[in-house]
Amino acid sequence: MSGLLEEYLGWDSQLERALRLDVLGATWVGEVRGIAFAGMGGSGIIGDFVARYLERELEVPVFSVKSHSLPRCVGRGWLAVAVSYSGNTPETLSAFCEARRRGAWLGVVASGGRLVELAERAEVPRVLVEDGHLPRTAMPSLLAGVAKLVNELAGSRIDVGRGLEALRDPGSREGALEKARGMARYMHGGLPVFVVPEELYPLGLRAKSEVNENAKVAGKVEVLPEWGHNDIVAWEGGPRGVLRPVVLRRGPDPLAGFALDYLRELGHDPEVLDLSGRDYLEAVLYGSWIAGMSSVILAELRGVDPRLTKSIERYRSVARKLLGTPC
Ligand code: PA5
Repeated sequence: MSGLLEEYLGWDSQLERALRLDVLGATWVGEVRGIAFAGMGGSGIIGDFVARYLERELEVPVFSVKSHSLPRCVGRGWLAVAVSYSGNTPETLSAFCEARRRGAWLGVVASGGRLVELAERAEVPRVLVEDGHLPRTAMPSLLAGVAKLVNELAGSRIDVGRGLEALRDPGSREGALEKARGMARYMHGGLPVFVVPEELYPLGLRAKSEVNENAKVAGKVEVLPEWGHNDIVAWEGGPRGVLRPVVLRRGPDPLAGFALDYLRELGHDPEVLDLSGRDYLEAVLYGSWIAGMSSVILAELRGVDPRLTKSIERYRSVARKLLGTPC
């Protein structure tokens, strides 16, 4: 046993602690021209979730960047938030330094590492999250940390408090674990394909990354409505090979409902993860929790260690050499 399932099961207490985090070195920024989040993997996905949420709250552009370089528009008047659990991810450090050179307002969420050193030295507003987790299991801390930072600097009202109720409620806890077991059994021996409506694209990505990293299994994400213009055709002809469609939806989404019915009509037997009745960030946190637990159970079924990601270490050493010391 890797102990990783217990770590996911402890997300409620992790979130409770994280909701008490402080923003260090905060300076009021106020009106911004836009917000860019920079990060990779289990840290980068937090930017995806929060950007998708803020797109509907703010009138300025908000996006997430998973690269060493930011779009040209990010500069003075923008808020650039670098998120890296380890604080040592080469692409995130590079994007942070680029935003600094361009005169953007900066913010950092990390547990330590070079990013925190740079932020402390330049008195950049920062949230230091608790250490000791794998980046992907630190989602409650990273999400609460980013919410605190952006609320304080840009005056948004991101609330992750409802997530705590979902993770705590005994009924939803038991349901989540049962669902995770069922999903793991369904995905075992196959290639999971997460079919998602646009708003849940980040959750699809997260679910895919979890099976990649924890279970060492390939995965795919297909997004509606674009799904209806190409992917849909590939499902014709009924079940073949290893594909295991998993439809993620929140509420009675008519397009996700159509995808589900159509897959069934074609003879597939998709798994469904329904996040009805939850607000956006609560839904993606709860959905990520189930996806994370199912990927760990899948790792156990496959007899692999969910903690190890040795190929990422190999890639990182190449990226470090290529990107050098960014600032
Ligand atoms: O979950 C993981 O371990 C990875 O996806 C990492 O998040 C990724 O390599 C980036 O590292 P960090 O989150 O420390 O910036």
